[in-house]
Amino acid sequence: MPPDELPPGPSLFATFDFIRNPFRFLDTCASRYGDWFTVRVPGVAPFVFTSDPAAVREIFLGDPDALHAGEANRPLGAFMGERSSLFLDGSEHLRQRRLLLPAFHGEQVASHADAMRNAADNAIASWPRGQRFRIHPQMRAITFETIIRAVFGFENDSTGAELRASLKKLFALYTSRLGTLFSLPAMQIDAGRWSPWGRAVRLTRQIDSILYAEFARRRKEGVEGRADILSMLLSARYEDGQPLPDNVIRDEMYTLMLAGHETTAATMAWVINRLVTNPEVMERARAEVFSALNGRLLDASHVGKLKYLEAAINETMRLDPVVPNIGRGLKKPMTIAGVQLPSGVTIAPCIYLVHRRRELWPNPAQFNPDRFLESRQSPYTFFPFGGGSRRCLGAAFATYQMKIVIAEILSRVELKKVDGYEPHAIRRGIAFAPSDGLPVNCD
Ligand code: HEM
Repeated sequence: MPPDELPPGPSLFATFDFIRNPFRFLDTCASRYGDWFTVRVPGVAPFVFTSDPAAVREIFLGDPDALHAGEANRPLGAFMGERSSLFLDGSEHLRQRRLLLPAFHGEQVASHADAMRNAADNAIASWPRGQRFRIHPQMRAITFETIIRAVFGFENDSTGAELRASLKKLFALYTSRLGTLFSLPAMQIDAGRWSPWGRAVRLTRQIDSILYAEFARRRKEGVEGRADILSMLLSARYEDGQPLPDNVIRDEMYTLMLAGHETTAATMAWVINRLVTNPEVMERARAEVFSALNGRLLDASHVGKLKYLEAAINETMRLDPVVPNIGRGLKKPMTIAGVQLPSGVTIAPCIYLVHRRRELWPNPAQFNPDRFLESRQSPYTFFPFGGGSRRCLGAAFATYQMKIVIAEILSRVELKKVDGYEPHAIRRGIAFAPSDGLPVNCD
């Protein structure tokens, strides 16, 4: 293929299905065009999707200065701000990522175990027994509360309450049908407080003033003895000894709050869907939880023992990845796995399609957690958290939280499938969640 010619792909009309039913859209493209296809959306660079694991490997090991993830992520951003590590590239990205990393190391993540369990317990206590309800909003409430505590360390103070209220409104807007279109510049028009973008702008201003006041308060009072992520960032220093400017910390706060709760909530909803439709897996996972707990309250010491539950979570992320593809903007012409690509396109390793390749995953559509107990997976064939120098910062945090929350659910209630309900994926903010909020019956 000449360098300026891109692999064939769907028409703009067919591409609308990416919003209506993204997994179906990807399946159709793969069966029609194979391992490589181009998706074009007006106003943004063409996306060249690939499901070739050799290409995934080259991209993850490739030069980050030539493969810009930050640039490709920017449409997700809307109100997160330009200084977020999600949107930076090159040495600036590395410098900032280094300062965030300590907040996501094993011991630090384990320190949030009680907050994770308490948030789950509070939600579970409110579930109506003997009735049907939607599980996805419940998962969002749990992950929202957990991330607020991890990021700010707020308990029951008034700043925490004010911030929670404004953030909930902003995130509800962002994950609504209209908010999902905020990534298109044409939707970012402030036509007053009643227009969707106008509301988002005003809410963001409100939240910013709470955040900046909190930064100033902590800088004045000191952060000694505090283990939350904000306090860590306030005391962090770049290699030249400089502190992070407030606008950078502000952008990282938004990123962690958003990236840190929508994705995990949607993934847990998919896990519950897989468990209620595979009762034998659910019972095996429940038995493992009871055996690990042995009558005690779930805490950090139990998490490592939940191997089968972790396998069930991984198998769910294989089949229902809430981020179905990632992106890297090409800064120069490149040949990737033998395919020549011009500068300016975004190459999009397709998590969803690689996770369903027949030669990698025998009987790929079957939900079988044992796959993850029997063999170790390669980072180029199983990558729900992306990869290379851009791999998700919160992967350990998310996995830890999912194990705690699902274990707590299994130990406390019996969830059952609602007859006739078959979910498809819908985009909500940055994650693809099950349609209709995933109704379940609870006993
Ligand atoms: C199941 C839950 C989650 C999934 C599936 C997920 C998935 C992803 C993916 C696919 C990427 C892009 C990686 C790439 O381009 O190669 C990413 C990046 C990122 N995620 Fe997550 N994520 C999850 C949870 C979290 C949590 C809990 C946090 C923080 C508390 C978080 C923070 C981030 C950040 C900061 C980045 C940007 C990393 C960088 O560019 O250096 N994520 N995530």
